[in-house]
Amino acid sequence: MTDPVYLLFHRPEGPDTPSPKPGDPNESEQYLDLSNPHILRMALFSIEIARSGAVQEPCVLDDIYFSALLHDVGKTMLREEVLNKPAPLTPEERAHVETHAALGGEMVGQIPGWERVSRSVRAHHEWWDGSGYPDRLQGETIPLPARIVAVADVFDALTTRRPYREPLPVRAAIRHIRNGSGTHFDPEVVEAFLKIPDVEWEHFRRQAELLASDGLIQIHSWYFQLDENARRSEL
Ligand SMILES: [Fe+2]
Repeated sequence: MTDPVYLLFHRPEGPDTPSPKPGDPNESEQYLDLSNPHILRMALFSIEIARSGAVQEPCVLDDIYFSALLHDVGKTMLREEVLNKPAPLTPEERAHVETHAALGGEMVGQIPGWERVSRSVRAHHEWWDGSGYPDRLQGETIPLPARIVAVADVFDALTTRRPYREPLPVRAAIRHIRNGSGTHFDPEVVEAFLKIPDVEWEHFRRQAELLASDGLIQIHSWYFQLDENARRSEL
């Protein structure tokens, strides 16, 4: 697999630099901040859910890891004033933000051999009951890495401080995930998530903060110390 570092470049300098559009030759100048603790927590949480032993469906761990790292790469294509808007979004702005899933899938899909990761990145906002986006996929037609990333993403959002609210306690966030089983989330992935004790989630968050101190390098070294057979073969 090509290392995802391939996708990680620097935002062009200067406030007047126009945002490149998909297909633009400057697209590789896009910026994905992989020192962002959210992305590192996503990778760690997703892998721990997959390794809990409760997910029966076969899946390659590498696909889960890279899908978690890159799930929001499409946001680098969005208008910054919308992404950073400190107020509720208009319907047009919300529709614009939702394009990030399909855009991310397109970006990752440009890398030969990354088709599965591309499909998962595209599908990370799909819902188990078919009410998600961009394709309204349902049930097991949603790639498993995307179903795992969806749980990790919501859990992380709930347990992280936002400008407008305090983080939810881990226990309350776990309850929220349980309540979403069968509607938002794959029941089997929720079962895997629930197998992990509350204190472990607290531990993973602290571990991710430590890994975030050196960003991508740290999360890579944590991940690649896992046995290669475990990473490449089906779970
Ligand atoms: Fe997203």
